[in-house]
Amino acid sequence: MSDLLVRPRRLRFNPRLRDLVAEARLDPRMFVMPHFVLRKPGEVQEIDAMPGIRREGVDALAKTIEADIALGIRSVLLFGVPDDSEPKHGDGRASYGEDALVPQAVASLKRRFGNDLVIMTDVCLCAYTDHGHCGVIEAGRVANDPSLEHLARMAVAHAAAGADVVAPSDMMDGRVLAIREALDDAGLVDTPIMSYSCKYASGYYGPFREAAHSAPQFGDRKSYQMDSRNKREAVLEAQLDIEEGADILMVKPGLAYLDVLAEIRAGFDQPLAVYNVSGEYSMVKAAALRGWIDERTVTMENLHAFRRAGADIIITYHARQALAEGWL
Ligand code: PBG
Ligand code: ZN
Repeated sequence: MSDLLVRPRRLRFNPRLRDLVAEARLDPRMFVMPHFVLRKPGEVQEIDAMPGIRREGVDALAKTIEADIALGIRSVLLFGVPDDSEPKHGDGRASYGEDALVPQAVASLKRRFGNDLVIMTDVCLCAYTDHGHCGVIEAGRVANDPSLEHLARMAVAHAAAGADVVAPSDMMDGRVLAIREALDDAGLVDTPIMSYSCKYASGYYGPFREAAHSAPQFGDRKSYQMDSRNKREAVLEAQLDIEEGADILMVKPGLAYLDVLAEIRAGFDQPLAVYNVSGEYSMVKAAALRGWIDERTVTMENLHAFRRAGADIIITYHARQALAEGWL
């Protein structure tokens, strides 16, 4: 006879019973699939550093999205990747000009999918500035306030084209307020803002910068993105964004910042997104391709970690494969 009354293992023998008592569950409706949009409608390019992810023109993208919808992915986050031949400027004005890339793609996808698809757009200047920084340069620095009007114009262009959610990722102070006011002035009072509220300066964005051709031409992003040593500061950033009118908060990257995710979850009642960024994806892919880890096991472990830590929305390049291969 055993004198052990409490045996946690009792609930671990039958896989169905484990499912029954599982605390964190994933649902395809919480996934957001990121996409890199090219100018030429039919063009498709592989991204070396991100196996399984492509840059696509809007016609190719529409087919991809249609297949993803069939898998249950109802939300996308769009990044524009302008052609090498397209001019870039110091202030990123091509992001909102006459024939700007993302507004055109949004309008086309909205015509095709309507309310069957939630179209979120990344609002940031770095893919459109000649220097690759997320704001304008003055006296050798990324200048805060002069950047706001350009970000606001970009957000308005996206929302006017039909974006369901605009998502500023630049980390300038006051950009949520500037965008909210510009949207409201344009009559776009019902377009929500998902703020990249707690976005850290991170080496994990490496593959993305190859994908989006958005690497800074000099220096780094540490004068605007957060310092990875800080957590209390993340609470301040989230608080400011809520005060400025943000509708959805975000922590980015995910895995190295699960403590921040849990902290923001505990402190805020607004919907909370996590961005499982490019480097996190590519590390799993690279190790799996070498046979060093089991891709399904590790991917699901990571996705469950985001949910367990409190994310409502998971932006992840793994979404398609996870659903297509029945990992959920
Ligand atoms: C643009 C932006 C970046 C990411 C999302 N929006 C790159 C950066 O800040 O350098 C990173 C996404 C990823 O790595 O998957 N500012
Ligand atoms: Zn940027």
